[in-house]
Amino acid sequence: MRAERTALVCGAGGFIGGHLARRLTRDGIAVRGIDIKPPAFGPLDIDRFVIADLRDPAACREVIDQPFDEVYQLAADMGGAGYVFTGDNDAAIMRNSALININVIEACRRAGCESVFFSSSACVYPRHRQTDTDTADCVEASAYPADPDSEYGWEKLFGERLYLAHNRNDGMRNRVARFHNVFGPLGSWADGREKAPAAICRKVALARDGGQIEVWGDGQQLRSFLYIDDCIDGILRLMRSPDFEGPVNIGSDAPVTINRLVDMVCEIAGKRLTRRHVPGPMGVRARNSDNTLLQDKLGWTPSVPLRDGLAATYRWIEAQVAEATVGAA
Ligand code: NAD
Ligand code: GDD
Repeated sequence: MRAERTALVCGAGGFIGGHLARRLTRDGIAVRGIDIKPPAFGPLDIDRFVIADLRDPAACREVIDQPFDEVYQLAADMGGAGYVFTGDNDAAIMRNSALININVIEACRRAGCESVFFSSSACVYPRHRQTDTDTADCVEASAYPADPDSEYGWEKLFGERLYLAHNRNDGMRNRVARFHNVFGPLGSWADGREKAPAAICRKVALARDGGQIEVWGDGQQLRSFLYIDDCIDGILRLMRSPDFEGPVNIGSDAPVTINRLVDMVCEIAGKRLTRRHVPGPMGVRARNSDNTLLQDKLGWTPSVPLRDGLAATYRWIEAQVAEATVGAA
């Protein structure tokens, strides 16, 4: 009888890791999830969930104790603009994520895991290519000469290089994807790490019809947003591609301004709100995913319309807001 396929998901207590662990389990794979904290929004119903600090090499070796068929390294110290672009968390982000990345890949190598997926970010792209909408498209090759606008981006570049160096030096089959702003239910929405889609959904859910919400900056910042189901499909396609290691963008190539994002959420909520533009952490001015390489190498690109993803996300955040309000009453 064929042995059961096994997967390890590092960061399974988080947003993308949690969705991925559930999906792999549904696909019949025995999943071990690891995180420093339990899943924020309830148990995952996977084979095994382990609490461990992946910054500790001994803890890493203890939990990565067998040659898992697939390893997904999604654990990181990360967040939206309010966490990564203030400058206040730079040292922690670099230290925590670099330690995790080094320890995980070394434990995997020792345990005989051949293939590790590494989650990099659109934040690796150079700042001078993201100053206006004409240069917003992030082509993979444009990451060098490097000049990310955040320390988070610099650490991701290091991680990419580390995981791919193991392919050359140790015969591993690691894969690297650069995610572009992923959103959906079961993600941070009010803990200071939330990204714009969740923050805007929360603000709209809390506002009364005819009221006002705060938006950081003039709202002309341009971003593309990837729905979580597409993100998971992209991860699995890259991981299971026979010979393409990346780095490759996994993102939407349908950008919108933050003002348009706000309008879409208001339409979904059925509320007429005005925007009050206030100072806040901004990140780059304009960013979009170029999906030419993704289409070429994997024959696939994301397909969930932004509006559909936002509707599902808004419904979930609206329910969270209602629950929190009842709890606080
Ligand atoms: P998340 O914060 O929801 O998940 C990361 C998880 O890592 C968290 O549950 C956290 O507790 C865990 N973690 C942190 N430190 C740890 C430690 N020392 N030991 C064990 N676990 C630890 O973030 P996410 O949105 O799910 O992102 C997953 C990955 O994708 C990260 O590497 C992130 O940088 C990358 N990424 C995400 C996006 C996005 O838009 N969500 C964009 C680009 C890249
Ligand atoms: N978070 C947030 N909250 N952003 C807001 C808000 C708000 O209330 N109002 C306006 N914005 C603006 C920010 O100023 C920024 O210009 C834009 O919305 C997008 O913010 P985020 O979604 O928080 O982050 P990002 O797109 O700049 O970067 C995120 O995605 C990267 C990958 O594409 C971050 O999560 C990075 O860590 C990630 O790598």
